[in-house]
Amino acid sequence: MPSLLVFVLTAILTSGLTAAAPTAPSASWSSVASAAEPSETVPLASDNPNGILWNTTTDKDPQPIRGQLGGDILAQQNVPLQEQNPDILAPPTTDENIIPNVKWPFSLSTMRLNTGGFARQQNINQMPIATSMAGVDMRLKPGAIRELHWHKTSEWAYVLSGYTQVSAVDQDGRNFVGTVGPGDLWYFPPGIPHSLQATNQTEGGSEFLLIFDNGDFSDDSTFLLTDWLAHTPKEVIAKNFGTNLAAWNDIPGQQLYIFPGEPPSPDAVAPEDPQGQVPNPYIYKLSEMGAEQLAGGALKIADSRNFTVSTTIALAEFWVEPGGMRELHWHPTQDEWTYYISGSARVTEFASSATAQTFNYVAGDIGFVPAAYGHYVENIGNETLHYLEIFNSDLVVDVSLNQWLALTPPELVKEHLQISDETIDHLSKIKPYVVGATEV
Ligand SMILES: *[C@@H]1O[C@H](CO)[C@@H](O)[C@H](O)[C@H]1NC(C)=O
Ligand SMILES: *[C@@H]1O[C@H](CO)[C@@H](O)[C@H](O)[C@H]1NC(C)=O
Ligand SMILES: *[C@@H]1O[C@H](CO)[C@@H](O)[C@H](O)[C@H]1NC(C)=O
Ligand SMILES: *[C@@H]1O[C@H](CO)[C@@H](O)[C@H](O)[C@H]1NC(C)=O
Repeated sequence: MPSLLVFVLTAILTSGLTAAAPTAPSASWSSVASAAEPSETVPLASDNPNGILWNTTTDKDPQPIRGQLGGDILAQQNVPLQEQNPDILAPPTTDENIIPNVKWPFSLSTMRLNTGGFARQQNINQMPIATSMAGVDMRLKPGAIRELHWHKTSEWAYVLSGYTQVSAVDQDGRNFVGTVGPGDLWYFPPGIPHSLQATNQTEGGSEFLLIFDNGDFSDDSTFLLTDWLAHTPKEVIAKNFGTNLAAWNDIPGQQLYIFPGEPPSPDAVAPEDPQGQVPNPYIYKLSEMGAEQLAGGALKIADSRNFTVSTTIALAEFWVEPGGMRELHWHPTQDEWTYYISGSARVTEFASSATAQTFNYVAGDIGFVPAAYGHYVENIGNETLHYLEIFNSDLVVDVSLNQWLALTPPELVKEHLQISDETIDHLSKIKPYVVGATEV
């Protein structure tokens, strides 16, 4: 706040000069002069480019220093974390105030270890702002089974590695069995019983990202077949299925959750069903669909328009090349749960009320962008940034800042931003989604 006061005073003192725009004291290492005069209404924004100060390729001691601000840490340091979070340690001067935490590395989630695999999760306990979605990272060794179960939320998944066979039966007794691989999806509506099993098509079995449409969800509180029967009188079980008691001698006395099994045939099909198969398949082979090529990368969208059954979760999968950027945009009414698959990213979230905060993400990190928050996702590394934007919605929807300005009367835009006709002509009436690298 004091620096803002100085900034405003400087602006007032220099408002009669034409040579240079006022610059914040914090930006005094920048020698770039603005061509425009200070506005009569408010001072001009700083000319400081405010770029990241180190990235994954830079060999630099990461310290909280930006220009003349800050100083190196004299006390204890966690250097690997400092290297991964340049904008937490040395925020751009455009950041102001703070928003609730929107970064959670899966590496900090406690693992639930089972014979056959593992699971770890992120829900509102880890990131309280993320009330609309929760995520689970699950690994199954070849043949291992995530047991037959159901839950109140829907379940959506993106396969990260290997092949998984899923089974389900819906409320009308229509069944489904299907097998999906890396980059493919599945979806089960709320309450529909299902199972997951890794095939042996790859040596490691499978690993996948599960999304649930409620941030309060916990994978520790699902309704499991074995847990239910272990808590039902044997006499009731026998009567229910019309058998003697002995038929149920060997059922587990507690839940299995994840357990080893024989690898199923990848081509397995559902048992014959007098009711027929579910009308809309519970899997979607997104890996077999072509991506839309963009100036700075590529995009795949999978929502209820093509993955018909997926009415509560929608996906936009992005590839952003080095130097490229997912453009400035927002999602009108949809929260975004973000998962980073490769590369490293810089994201500033604008929360209105002069509040904006910048975060950095690498592979394995989870991000979150509340509905309506303005943001961008910049590739700040030397490899392709591959990440997922996941929405608690039937549709992927976004508003592009570039397209908005391009389609607004130019005089109106010029009056706000004092930009030239040339810059106006450069705006894009077609949504760019991902822009390429530009020398700035
Ligand atoms: C990225 O930079 C790292 C560190 O300098 C290097 O090891 C790696 O090979 C680079 N990757 C690419 C794709 O250039
Ligand atoms: C994988 O499982 C199939 C079907 O059970 C089996 O025929 C095959 O031998 C297995 N392959 C490997 C590499 O274990
Ligand atoms: C799914 O449908 C949307 C809307 O028509 C389209 O933009 C997208 O490209 C489709 N996705 C795939 C993978 O075909
Ligand atoms: C990473 O930092 C190096 C050194 O500052 C710079 O040359 C390179 O352009 C940066 N890479 C990206 C993608 O910003």
